[in-house]
Amino acid sequence: MSEVGVVPVRAVAPGSGEMISVDVDGTVVAVANINGELRAFDDTCTHKECPLSEGRLVGLSVICPCHQSRFDLQTGEPLNGPAEKPIRIRGIRQDGDVLLIDH
Ligand code: FES
Repeated sequence: MSEVGVVPVRAVAPGSGEMISVDVDGTVVAVANINGELRAFDDTCTHKECPLSEGRLVGLSVICPCHQSRFDLQTGEPLNGPAEKPIRIRGIRQDGDVLLIDH
C-alpha cells in the first residue's frame, strides 16, 4: 500500500491524549499518539459523520463526541452503538520527523 507523509511527529505528542486530523487524498484522517502508540483512522464516525478527532480516547479506543459510539482502534469495529459499521484503521509509521499514513 502506498504511503503519504503528512504529519510532523511533533504534532502528536506522546501521552497527551490529543488527536489531530489531517487530509489524506481528500479523506479526513485522525492521528492519535496513545502513550507512544500511533494510530491513524478515518475521522468520520460511521453513525452520523461526526469528527472522531473531537471525541475522547479511552485506552485503545475512541468515543464519538456526538452520540458516544466507541470504536476499537485496533480493528475499527464499534464496541458500542449507535454506530454499527466499523471505521477504517490505516497503517502509520514513523520515518524520521514525519509520520507516514497509508492512502
Ligand atoms: S455521529 Fe458518532 S455516534 Fe452518532
